[in-house]
Amino acid sequence: MCGIVAYFGKKQAQPILIEGLKRLEYRGYDSAGVALLKANQFEVYKTSGRIANLEEILPETESRAVVGIGHTRWATHGVPNTINAHPHIDYTGKIALVHNGIIENYAILKKWLIKEGCTFKSETDTEVVANLIGYFYERNRARNGENAPSGSNRFEWAVQQAFNEIYGTYGLAIMCSDCPDVMIGVKKGSPLILGVGKEEYIIASDASAIIEHTSQAIYLSDGEMVTIHSEGFDTKTISNEEVTKELKDIEISLDQIELEGFEHYMQKEIAEQPQVLETCLKGRVDVKNGRVILGGIQDKLRDLTRTKRIILSACGTAWHAGLVGEFLFEQLARIPSEVEYASEFRYRNPIVDEGTIFIAISQSGETADTLAAVELAKERGATVLGIVNVVGSTIARTTDAGVYLRVGPEIGVASTKAFTAQVSVLTMLAIELGRRRHLSSEMAQGLLKELMEIPKKVEQIFSQKEQTRQIAQANIDKDNWLFLGRGFNYPVALEGALKLKEISYIHAEGLPAAEMKHGPIALITDNMPAVFIATKCSQYEKIIGNIEEVRARGGRTIVVATEGDEHIKPYADHLITVPDTVEQLQPLLTVVPLQMLAYHAAVLRGHDVDKPRNLAKSVTVE
Ligand code: F6R
Repeated sequence: MCGIVAYFGKKQAQPILIEGLKRLEYRGYDSAGVALLKANQFEVYKTSGRIANLEEILPETESRAVVGIGHTRWATHGVPNTINAHPHIDYTGKIALVHNGIIENYAILKKWLIKEGCTFKSETDTEVVANLIGYFYERNRARNGENAPSGSNRFEWAVQQAFNEIYGTYGLAIMCSDCPDVMIGVKKGSPLILGVGKEEYIIASDASAIIEHTSQAIYLSDGEMVTIHSEGFDTKTISNEEVTKELKDIEISLDQIELEGFEHYMQKEIAEQPQVLETCLKGRVDVKNGRVILGGIQDKLRDLTRTKRIILSACGTAWHAGLVGEFLFEQLARIPSEVEYASEFRYRNPIVDEGTIFIAISQSGETADTLAAVELAKERGATVLGIVNVVGSTIARTTDAGVYLRVGPEIGVASTKAFTAQVSVLTMLAIELGRRRHLSSEMAQGLLKELMEIPKKVEQIFSQKEQTRQIAQANIDKDNWLFLGRGFNYPVALEGALKLKEISYIHAEGLPAAEMKHGPIALITDNMPAVFIATKCSQYEKIIGNIEEVRARGGRTIVVATEGDEHIKPYADHLITVPDTVEQLQPLLTVVPLQMLAYHAAVLRGHDVDKPRNLAKSVTVE
């Protein structure tokens, strides 16, 4: 949800900013821009569209500026045109900044600033921040009439004054043309990292824009700011109290964020699943004793075992994983569980008490809705756990304890490997809770043995790549699809539909297969492919019945079935198989062909798979 990068050092800033923006482009790609600061002058280049469009308008000779800021936008306030693109310069021309987040009280501030004589060019909330800083900087006087304290850094003081007035979420990098040897970063609610290199600093929304230059960073907390200057950097709160931050190692490597021969990140991330799932399970599963060791939440297991209720909360794909989690907790551990859309949870005065265990699931660890739900659950006294991928992310730091997915950076906007890892972690947790309650060791051993086989079985599915491509090709002109599953495969039907929608722009609906006859069956024609997930499970006969209902009405079926199932063949216009496994683990396999199907459909329709229209990878606005 917007990516920001800023460079302060001795090298030419421009190529570093452009490379950084390319790494962050998955966060938004509505417009892009850079501002470079040299000889007390800003050089600003910005345009609607992608980083590639920005490169086209940059002068042939790279600027020699060694300080600069850059931005790639996911539009919230104002259409994605050049005027609304960041960086924004204030009305005095002295302040330039890039922003990720939303300024909630921007309309009131804008009205007031206009009354005070400030002028605006864009429709964005961000320009209000630039003008507010410029206003305090220019006047050198606070709102209460007091002058800036003598000897203070006026630029830093003006930034602090401005943020006393602002409500909302923000990660910003700010420059002042009077102070080319100072750069300021401010954070609240949006991620912001300071990469610390040798005589150089990079502020960025995430580590991918930093890792090429340094592997050391500090992670700012909400309400903190960093001032970089020629002697180093200082960290303090926005209200000017000093804070000491620890330098940490960035845990991702460069090869994890490269395409490494794949055409798209989504394709790479689907292919990585066998290996990353192995990493996710490694050292956590003790098959012999039928136990699971999840280090991050070991201290909370007593509470978890005794709880009367688990609430899982997440958005999108992570919510689908949560739905599998709900089924697992209820079936294996017999704990009443429910999965909640984080965006809804917070606004309906939910019943949460001290005995409740609240589990937030998030790949990015930055999703604003999920974070807000976490905060509410904490406020109401629940024990709050996180299942998160990005190490050190806001949700990971806000929860009481948690389990990391260990799947490495997920860059493709459509989530794939994070889903299978989320389901794997939930499975491990459900089995361990089950063991602590009533699940027999034989049952747990059997499930864990099967779980350890999953990475290999995912690999086997890849032998049908060409077949999936052909199925996508055969149905590529169909604009409406249905995805149907029962039991543990119902969340997979939802996920299959979401994958297809978001990258191929084909309308798709996921449903519990039996619900079809309560309305959606009216849609069935031979023009609407129905994807059935019909693996061997306790509801196998029932789902065959649902397939019959579709075929009887002339519908065309794509069936995901268990390898070796001859009986199902006559029911499928197109067949994809997955290796056999126990019912509870089937989502880990059945989702894979649906990821592949969506990927091929998007490629065949000529879409940019990794940067689907209107989307962004981490949704840091509510
Ligand atoms: C879909 C997708 C989104 C995310 C959702 C939550 O492919 O990626 O639906 O799952 O925005 O994101 P995280 O998991 O980062 O909280």
